[in-house]
Order: sequence, then C-alpha cells, then structure tokens
Amino acid sequence: MSNGAYRALHDRSSADPAGFWAEAAQGVDWIRPPKTGLDDSRPPFYRWFSDGTLNTCYNALDRHVIAGRADQAALHYESPVTGTSRSYTYAELLEKVAKFAGVLRTLGVEKGDRVVIYMPMVPEAVIAMLATARLGAIHSVVFGGFAPAELAARIEDAVPKVVVAASCGIEPSRTVPYKPFLDQAIDRSSHKPERCVILQREQVTAEMTERDVDWVEMMKSDAIQPAECVEVAATDPLYVLYTSGTTGKPKGIVRDNGGHAVALTWSMPNLYGIRPGEVFWTASDVGWVVGHSYIVYAPLLAGATTIVYEGKPVGTPDAGAFWRVVEKYEVVSLFTAPTAIRAIKKEDPNAEELKKYDVSSLRRLFLAGERLDPETYKWASEVLGIPVIDNWWQTETGWPIATNPVGIEELPIKPGSPTVPTPGYDVQVLDEQGQQVPPGAEGSIAIKLPMPPGTLPTLWNDDDRYVSSYLSAYDGYYLTGDGGYIDEDGYVYVMGRTDDVLNVAGHRLSTGSIEAAIAGHPAVAECAVIGVADQMKGQIPRAFVVLKSGSGIETEEDTERLGKELVQRVRDEVGAVAALKLVDVVVALPKTRSGKILRKTMRQIADGQEAMVPSTIEDPSVLDTLRPVLRKD
Ligand code: COA
Ligand code: AMP
Repeated sequence: MSNGAYRALHDRSSADPAGFWAEAAQGVDWIRPPKTGLDDSRPPFYRWFSDGTLNTCYNALDRHVIAGRADQAALHYESPVTGTSRSYTYAELLEKVAKFAGVLRTLGVEKGDRVVIYMPMVPEAVIAMLATARLGAIHSVVFGGFAPAELAARIEDAVPKVVVAASCGIEPSRTVPYKPFLDQAIDRSSHKPERCVILQREQVTAEMTERDVDWVEMMKSDAIQPAECVEVAATDPLYVLYTSGTTGKPKGIVRDNGGHAVALTWSMPNLYGIRPGEVFWTASDVGWVVGHSYIVYAPLLAGATTIVYEGKPVGTPDAGAFWRVVEKYEVVSLFTAPTAIRAIKKEDPNAEELKKYDVSSLRRLFLAGERLDPETYKWASEVLGIPVIDNWWQTETGWPIATNPVGIEELPIKPGSPTVPTPGYDVQVLDEQGQQVPPGAEGSIAIKLPMPPGTLPTLWNDDDRYVSSYLSAYDGYYLTGDGGYIDEDGYVYVMGRTDDVLNVAGHRLSTGSIEAAIAGHPAVAECAVIGVADQMKGQIPRAFVVLKSGSGIETEEDTERLGKELVQRVRDEVGAVAALKLVDVVVALPKTRSGKILRKTMRQIADGQEAMVPSTIEDPSVLDTLRPVLRKD
C-alpha cells in the first residue's frame, strides 16, 4: 500500500520545480553555487542552474578522496573475455584521470573542445571520459559495435580535436580491430582530428601513423603533469551522445554539467536506494546512455563503487556470468537490459547456474532500454526472489522518466509497467490534437515542459532540429516518440515507438541508416526496414527490397546471394550490432499517395496485430500481395 511519500514528492516537484531542484543541488559541490534554479527566460529552451559553476570530474572523484574515500574501491574491472580483473580505489582512479587529463591537455585539448572516445568496456574508457570532463572539454563516446560510416558521421558532426581509441574490442566469437575502423572513419570524414590516442591491447596491435600516440607511453611520460579541474558553467556541455532518429543522420544529444550532476546524484539514493560505498553494477556499455549515466557518472557522483564488465550475459563463459560477478563484488543492485535476462533464461531456464553462487548481497534488479515483458519480469522475480524494477527512459532524458522510486517509497509492481512518473517529470498521454486522453486510453506519451535537470537542453549545434524533432508536435511538450497509456492508479505503460526507430537487444538503431546501407547496393531500387518482434532481442530488423529492372537477380541462388550481400553491407556501414538477418525481395512497397512507406502497417501485419491501413494508401493491392511475406516467420 502506498504511504503517499512518492505522491507528495512528485506533487512538490511539479508545484515548485525550481525550489525542488535547488534543494537537490545541495548534493553537488559547486565552485560558485547557483542562485537560479530554473532559467525559463527563453522558452522553449530551459536551462538549469545557469549562474552556477562546477566541475563534474571533481564531484565524481576529488571530493570523495577529500572526504575520506581514497582507499574505497571506485571501479572494478571484470573481463571474462580476457580472463583479467583489476580494481581502482578512488585515489588511484583520480591519479589516472588527472594524468590522462594532462595527456589530453598536452595534445591541445582545452575547455569546450570535443574528444571522441571509441573504446570497448575497459577502465581506460571511463578514465578518458572523466579526464575530458576534468578539462571542461566535451566527450562523445561512440559505441564499439558501430561501423566506420557511423563513426565518421559522429566525427564529422562533433569535430573532435582528439580521438581516444583502443586497438581492438573482444567479442565472444572474434576480436574486433577498432583501429582500422577508426582510420577508415577519419578517411571518410571531412574533419580530421589532430591526434589519436591509442590503447594497444595485446590481442591485436594497431599500426600507428604519425597522427597516433600510444596511451601507455603518454601516461608514463614524466614531462606530462596531471591536470587540475577546470571550472565550467553548469550549462556548459559535459558530453554529446549521438542517438538514432528515423533518418540516417544521428542526433547529437547534449548533456550539461550542472543539471546532470544534480539529477544523477539525486537519483542514486532516491530512485535506486544506493548509499555511498555500496556496489552498483550496470551491465551495459559506455557507448549507450545507460552506460554514461549508471556505469560512469551516477555511481561515482554518489561515492559508490561501479563495475566495468567486459563480457556478455551468456557465453562468457556461461549463463552464470552475472551471478558470479554479483557474488565476487557483493553487488547490491544490478542494472541491465531485459534482453540480457531473456538470454540467461533461454540458456538456463531453471536457473541452475544461479544456485551455484551466493547472491544474497543483491537487493534489486533494475532493467531498462526496452519494454520489460511480463514473462521476463515474472521469471527474474521468481528465480531471484527480489524486486525487479523496470525503468523507462531515453538517451535524451539521461535518467528515468518512469520508475519505481524505491528510495522514496517502494510502490507495488504491476508487470508490464515501469511504474510511475519520476519526480520532475510531468508525463501525459495525448491524442492527435494534443488533448490528454482518459486513463487507460492509448496515445502519444509527452512530457510537459520544462523537463527536470539532466535532460537534454538541445541538440549539438542544432537548436532548430531540437525544436522540430521534439517540441513542435505539441506546444509546451517534449515528444518522447513512445506510445502508451497511464492507468487509473497513475502507472505508465510504454507500448513502443510511434516512429520508425528500432530497438534491437536494447540498442537503439535507425531504420534510415540501415535503409541507406541497403539502398547503396546497385541492384536495389528501393527498400524498407521494419523492426519485428523477436523473442530474444525484443525486436530485430527485417528488410524488404524492390529490385531495379535489369538487376540480373533472377534465380533463387541470385536472391540468396543478394541477401548475403545486403546483410554484409549493413554490417559494414552500420555495424554488426544492427543484426540484420532477414531480407525479402518484393515487387513493390506499400505507400501513401504522398509516397510515404507504410512501415507501421507493415510492422503490425508482421507482428500479427490488427493493421491500421491509412485511407491515404496509394494502392491497397500492394499490401495484399505483401501480407503472406510479412507474416512468414
Ligand atoms: N564491438 C564490436 N562488435 C559488437 C559489440 C561491440 N561493442 N557489441 C556487439 N557487437 C557485435 C557482436 O559481436 C555480434 O556480432 P556477430 O553478428 O558477428 O556475432 C553483433 O554485434 C550483435 O551483437 P549482440 O547484440 O551482442 O547480440 P548477440 O546475439 O551476440 O548477443 C545478447 C545477444 C542478448 C547476449 C546481447 O545482445 C546482450 O548482451 N544484450 C544486452 C544489451 C544491452 O546491454 N543493451 C544496452 C542498453 S541498457
Ligand atoms: P535509448 O535512447 O537507446 O535509451 O532508447 C530509448 C527508447 O527505448 C525509448 O524511447 C523506448 O522506446 C525504449 N525503452 C527504453 N526503456 C524502456 C522501457 N523500460 N519500457 C519500454 N520502452 C523502453
């Protein structure tokens, strides 16, 4: 039963957002404390703590060392794929970060400069992020599973002075050489970074060019002094993280320093029930927002201990991998994606592996990145016997929009719902006219402006796209791009994207960039990619291609070869993580009279749902011909 604590806090955050967050801002060490909470002088652009100054790295490291946590573990590195593990205390991590900040400064990085980081799950990725923040520079981490073209697009847009990369990443099935990908990306980009710092790993040694310097050698150099923290405005960007929209051009989500530090610091005790000194493990990747927020910044801002895990939930070496790590480090909270749990469940349905380990330290399992289906929820709660908590959020918000705020009040769980709007978020479900729908009715999920601290203030160098993508659908609201409903008890249900963004194994991918890779094939006249339901990955992409006349693709073998070529093109252009496996050649694609491909209708048919066929469809017979192809498994 609710004791009303959550409701009271949420009401306060809505009635007086500036006062609410000014109080939370006391959890951060400021250089110049802000007098202003919310700056709403330029709607629809809102800024938090605009007259405050701070340094985020100071808040994540230095202040804890000063406060007596020098010898406490800050970061455990656990790498089943290399068979190594290593731990850093707060003092050790600070020393490495300060030194690497000195390295970056020697290479010319100053406040406001961009540093692109393209690394696997190694501690050096975290060190590079924090070192960039220490200098008041702006990092942009690119997920290692992205191919050169995606990396190039990010380099082109972020215009980094320096890139930090590793020689390789290690996947269970193979070693992925990152350095050739980086070189290809730089060749493709019109902007060339001045320097690349390369972490050589023993599995693959990268070939160095004149542009490259070696991580280890630079860190050893006595000539390089550690760098102190640089004061930045609360509103200065801490990072830009690119995420997929519907077009091929990724969106550069900007995160500011002040609002981010306040929101994440506040979130640890209130949303995750974590105290300083406890071990909080997020099994994700620093290339995604969940990794930025809950592998790197939030645990360290809160004085907790984080884990950098270089491995998978299964296959490295088995389905007990997560439980082994929980036992080893006495993890209090584990945060991962539902896909990871589905993978464990598939391999070990009776949780035999779990029985081999003492996981009694684990208080809660948090899941995010995609919808937590009730079946996965049920299995995880039964085998673990602890609360399993769904979080709904996006790269844009940086922290949960809806969750069960366990540190404030642990609310009853309803399977299929990420529980309630987080304090600070006024979540509403709107119809096409922008009117709120009654409880239980589905619509577009929107957040009334202003959003709380830590959420995106704009897109990198593109205020117009920020407004047109998110703020123009409904005046005074941020459009989440998700559809769903809120029930009588105020519980939010997120049913899926209303646009064409894909979510494959918790990875957000753009239909546009996969389609662009396919359309580049000489035999392809046009194509459509949709995300169809998948038992393990939540969604997987399916591609439908229309051939050019005279393409020469005639026999079954030709079609099979074409399918393989298209799959390879997507791996080469977007990355293996896109996981495209299914390609069908069709005669035509269903479109509206204005030429828009009916991807949503196609998706509904493929998933066996009732399909909404718009009255503006150009030729209904095209859809009829496609139905059997869409329905096949
Ligand atoms: N660098 C290079 N390649 C990568 C990569 C990386 N960081 N991450 C994934 N890939 C590659 C994989 O090797 C694989 O390549 P392959 O097709 O040659 O085998 C491909 O991308 C797809 O990888 P993945 O999505 O990991 O699928 P999988 O079938 O190998 O594993 C799971 C399935 C469920 C185990 C895996 O998807 C998983 O751990 N999911 C959790 C997702 C997650 O943490 N999401 C973050 C949001 S919170
Ligand atoms: P990303 O920006 O990569 O974090 O992806 C955000 C998108 O993932 C959201 O817009 C949702 O579509 C989906 N998503 C993330 N978490 C959840 C969740 N808990 N429930 C439903 N969908 C989710």
